[in-house]
Amino acid sequence: MACDVFDPYPKNSRESFYDREDTLNEVKKLIQGKFWPLIIGPKRVGKTSIVKIVVNELNGVYIDASGITSLKQLASSLYNEIKFRFQIDLKVLKVDIDKKPTFSLQNILTKLGDVVIGIDEVQNITTPWFISVLSTAYNTSDVKFIFTGSMIGLSKVLVGESKGKKFSNQFKGRPIVEKEISPFSYEESVSFLAYGKERCSINMTEEEIKDSAETYQGIVGWLTYYGNLRSLGYDHKKAKEEVDNIASRIILDEYARLGEIEKVIVKALGLLKSSNWNNLKKVCEGLLGKKISDWNFDHSLKQLIKARIIYKKDGKYFLIDPMYKVLIRD
Ligand SMILES: Nc1ncnc2c1ncn2[C@@H]1O[C@H](COP(=O)(O)OP(=O)(O)O)[C@@H](O)[C@H]1O
Ligand SMILES: [Mg+2]
Repeated sequence: MACDVFDPYPKNSRESFYDREDTLNEVKKLIQGKFWPLIIGPKRVGKTSIVKIVVNELNGVYIDASGITSLKQLASSLYNEIKFRFQIDLKVLKVDIDKKPTFSLQNILTKLGDVVIGIDEVQNITTPWFISVLSTAYNTSDVKFIFTGSMIGLSKVLVGESKGKKFSNQFKGRPIVEKEISPFSYEESVSFLAYGKERCSINMTEEEIKDSAETYQGIVGWLTYYGNLRSLGYDHKKAKEEVDNIASRIILDEYARLGEIEKVIVKALGLLKSSNWNNLKKVCEGLLGKKISDWNFDHSLKQLIKARIIYKKDGKYFLIDPMYKVLIRD
C-alpha cells in the first residue's frame, strides 16, 4: 500500500504534508492581510504543495505556469480553471483573449472579485504587461495572489529588483512578500521519515533512516521518493538505487537547460564539493578548456544562486541538491 505522506505528487492537503505548519499558517495570514506571497526556494522542497494547500484551503484557483510564457496563455489557463467554478458571465471574454489578452485578463480579475489565485513557476512570464495587469488588479479589484518562482525573470521584477523597466515603477512590488522555503535540516529529514514509517507501518531501521537523511540533504522530494519506494516494499539499497535512477533523469533534464558556464560551474562543484570564487573559476576554466571573463563567471554564479541551485556560505560555494552528483559519474 502506498503511503500518503510519501505520495510523490505535490500535496493538496495538510494531512499528507509533513509539518511546515508555521509556513502554511503564515502564508495564509499574509494572503488574508492582502499581501501576495512569493514562495522562493530550491526545487523539490515543497513550494508547489504549499501553494496548492493554501489555495485549496482558501477556495482559490491554482495555475501551473511552468509552461506559460505569454499573457494569452495565462488568460486562457485562468479562463479554463474558472469557467465551471464561478458564477460569472465569461462568454464575451473568451473571444477577447486571443485579440486582447491584457484587457481580458484584467477583466477576468475584476469580475472574479475576492478570489485567491496561485500561480506556480511565475518566472517564465517575462512580459512587463503582466506587471501592469497585476498593478491594476491591486488597485482596482479584491483579487489576491500567491506565486512561486525563482528570482529570475518576472519574479525579479515583482519584488522591484529589476532596473529600468517601464512598468515595474508603478508597481514597485508593493504587495509582494518573499517567503523562502529551505530544505529540511538533518533532524527534520529524520523526523519526516520516522513520521512516515509510523504512519504507514513501514519497515525501516533507524540506521536506514539516518543514512537516507544524510544522503538526500533535506531535499524533500528525494526523501519522499525514497519513502514511497520503501512503502512499496523495496529494501533500503534497492530504494536508494531507484531514487538515483529517477534523480538522474530529472537532473540531466534540468542541467540541459543551463547555460555553458553554469553547466561547468555545477560540474566543478560536484567534483570539489565546495570552493571559493578564485579556485572555482580556475577549475571551471580547466574543465572548459578556455578562459572565462570575470564578469561572465560572476554573472553565471549569481544566476545559479538566484535559481537556488547553489548557495554561498562563508565565502564558499556549494551545490544545494546532493543528487547533482549524477553529473560527474562518467
Ligand atoms: N513537507 C512535505 N511533506 C510531505 N511531502 C512533501 C513535503 N514537501 C515536499 N513534499 C513532496 O516532495 C516532492 C516535491 O514537492 P513539490 O511541492 O513539488 O516541491 P517544489 O514545488 O518545491 O519542487 C513532492 O513529491 C511532494 O509531495
Ligand atoms: Mg514546484
